[in-house]
Amino acid sequence: MKPREITAYLDQYVIGQDDAKKTLAVAIYSHFQKVAMEAASTRQNLTLAKSNILLVGPTGTGKTLLCSTLAACLKRPFVTADATTLAQSRFVGDELEALMQRLLEQAGGDIERASCGIVFIDEIDKLANPGDPERAGAGRSVQHALLKIMEGSLIRLSDGTVIDTRRMLFICGGAFVGLEHIMANRHSYGFIGTTSDDDGQLIDRLNSRIKPTDLFEFGLIPEFTGRLPVVARLKSLTREDFVRIMQTPEDSLYRQFQQLFQLEGAELSIGPAVFAQIAELALEYKVGARSLRGIFEELMTPVLYALPDDPPGTRVHFHSLFAPPQKTTGEQRG
Ligand SMILES: Nc1ncnc2c1ncn2[C@@H]1O[C@H](COP(=O)(O)OP(=O)(O)OP(=O)(O)O)[C@@H](O)[C@H]1O
Ligand SMILES: [Mg+2]
Repeated sequence: MKPREITAYLDQYVIGQDDAKKTLAVAIYSHFQKVAMEAASTRQNLTLAKSNILLVGPTGTGKTLLCSTLAACLKRPFVTADATTLAQSRFVGDELEALMQRLLEQAGGDIERASCGIVFIDEIDKLANPGDPERAGAGRSVQHALLKIMEGSLIRLSDGTVIDTRRMLFICGGAFVGLEHIMANRHSYGFIGTTSDDDGQLIDRLNSRIKPTDLFEFGLIPEFTGRLPVVARLKSLTREDFVRIMQTPEDSLYRQFQQLFQLEGAELSIGPAVFAQIAELALEYKVGARSLRGIFEELMTPVLYALPDDPPGTRVHFHSLFAPPQKTTGEQRG
């Protein structure tokens, strides 16, 4: 798939985050180009440096969603793991082996396919936790184990097959709470005139880049941060994003509830004011799009409670979050 096709697919499910989508799409496209080049090359042992990716953004803005959507569209072996689970496990090596086993299963047992698959490791920021020395130690050893497989190593599975991670693409994700603060305190480049258009924009982009040193200051070990050259940042979602998230994706909350109503032979409609009110509330909760479902459920529960007793053909319309919905039955409509 070309980068544009990848972003077009992502757009169906993930609202906004255009920069992160582009970065991801380009990195993934180039990764598979490199894999193909390597395969076509006559030179033995030609290895192209891979560009593992770090996804950074506030909670509930779509990091995990982006990756699971990617997994669905790429038709490549794709596995996900959670860094916190890795850090809690007594034997990181065993966990990573199990991860590779899953990748191999995803590839239908084809070692060649599995060895150019994609591995997503979520909650990577939880590996950096100063304070508690025991957990910090566990976090560090997971980073060491990860950096080895990210760089490329041979992993022997329980049945004796050996899988080479040299050509796998690794995507790491994390919210990195407090990173903004670290970035705000560092020196920025300001030596090129900020007056004229393009230069200013480039400088802004460079300044807003997350650097390995920022991640180091956050608490990740330098060798690890150095192996994540591509950083994609997700933005906080706006009120308008929330309104779109509730309605536009194919599996949006609104559609999901409309389908629930349909199962009861009823019909659900929600006025624009309600979406705006929900978005406003969600903004206050500060957990990104995650709070939308809770608010929706709260709104719907009383109606869903009574709905199975209502006559078929009932229409339910919400015009405000703070007023009971209007209900009309088939008879009332005449
Ligand atoms: N950009 C988005 N477009 C559509 N839905 C979104 C978006 N961001 C978040 N959501 C919704 O919010 C839920 C939570 O998002 P997701 O799991 O991707 O958050 P996250 O960025 O991984 O957060 P965390 O750092 O807490 O893990 C998703 O299941 C999805 O329904
Ligand atoms: Mg997540």
